[in-house]
Amino acid sequence: MKVLVIGSGAREHALCRSLSLDPAVTALHCAPGNAGIAEIAELHQVDILDGAAVSALATRLEADLVVVGPEAPLVAGVADVLREAGIPVFGPSKEAARIEGSKAFAKDVMAHAGVPTARSYVCTNAEEADSALAAFGAPYVVKDDGLAAGKGVVVTDDIEAAKAHAARCERVVIEEYLDGPEVSLFAVTDGETVLPLQPAQDFKRAFDGDAGPNTGGMGAYSPLPWADPALVDEVVRTVLQPTVDEMRRRGTPFVGLLYAGLAITSRGVRVIEFNARFGDPETQVVLARLQTPLAGVLMAAATGHLADLEPLRWSDEAAVTVVVASHNYPGTPRTGDPITGLDEVAAQDASHAYVLHAGTRREGDSVLSAGGRVLSVTATGKDLAEARDRAYTAVGRIHLDGSHHRTDIAAKAAAGA
Ligand code: AMP
Ligand code: GLY
Repeated sequence: MKVLVIGSGAREHALCRSLSLDPAVTALHCAPGNAGIAEIAELHQVDILDGAAVSALATRLEADLVVVGPEAPLVAGVADVLREAGIPVFGPSKEAARIEGSKAFAKDVMAHAGVPTARSYVCTNAEEADSALAAFGAPYVVKDDGLAAGKGVVVTDDIEAAKAHAARCERVVIEEYLDGPEVSLFAVTDGETVLPLQPAQDFKRAFDGDAGPNTGGMGAYSPLPWADPALVDEVVRTVLQPTVDEMRRRGTPFVGLLYAGLAITSRGVRVIEFNARFGDPETQVVLARLQTPLAGVLMAAATGHLADLEPLRWSDEAAVTVVVASHNYPGTPRTGDPITGLDEVAAQDASHAYVLHAGTRREGDSVLSAGGRVLSVTATGKDLAEARDRAYTAVGRIHLDGSHHRTDIAAKAAAGA
């Protein structure tokens, strides 16, 4: 099977890594990719938001399957163009990707599907926003309706900050604050059958102790030893299957990866958000534990055959990933700095840890930072404590001037708290 992966982050590196280990994959391509992906896939330059260009590339490469990683091309309708060209694609249509592209749309789907989520108001002016904020009280949750790379949400006790964020957005969703631990649960779906993956937890805030601004994600771990073993079944029954059914009922079936961001509140599971693609950095830990070869799973979803698939096989090991970010991320990051120590990780830790690149590029013999989240180190171990030790040992070998990473990824869960 010839596979083309679209995207350039650590998520795409993780997808490419799993695909490269799958004996069914005879050729692996990625566009545009990054310095790490270049080591396992052939890279191609393409405007990933241009469906015709992506489709032409897939046709030229005779790709049997295209996997679209990020949300922006999905929301732009790239999967539709591929499907029209008869190319199997893992990733939802433009209409179905609205479940991530518009928070108000996602709320509407949930309301019709009876899916539990925070109560909310959609506001388009300051008056509406003010009365919604007053109705819910602090802590305030204000969400830009559109895509914002994980940075469109402000959760604050400061009413002025809440109002200011609302004023910056054309349309906002203001909602009830959900208290409780967060879980990310991914499901692969062909529009009908829902195949859940293992749950993970990510760390959205920039700094230790969940301080600082929201980011795209600073680390993740899986499994979740503290979670109820019945959680996955419950979320499939109350969230994922009803949502997939509702999307199909609307005539816009969701094919690809449905990501449920959940809060486990004292009153039960609530959806915080849906995404229309694999999450980053949760993908790094979920795929580290998936033993079933990946290409067949994604192909079965793309072609509507998920019901025929054998149950997924999972490793008993735990996985932890730690993101190394550029100076000043999630603000405007400093780029162009050399990254050293990558060879040392490959030489010393290869049996249980590896680097997945995100914002990197190669220049001669050096690898330079080229984005906010630069790379993530993923490690496995017999339990979270061992996986965590191994991840941080490898992170310690890597040097990037001015970079920062969280030191508490999976710390509480590893300690049994
Ligand atoms: P989102 O982009 O919707 O995932 O929001 C980013 C982060 O903001 C989430 O991972 C939560 O940590 C936080 N958040 C979003 N909605 C709520 C809510 N209703 N209550 C509490 N925290 C929230
Ligand atoms: N881990 C958060 C996201 O991918 O949106």
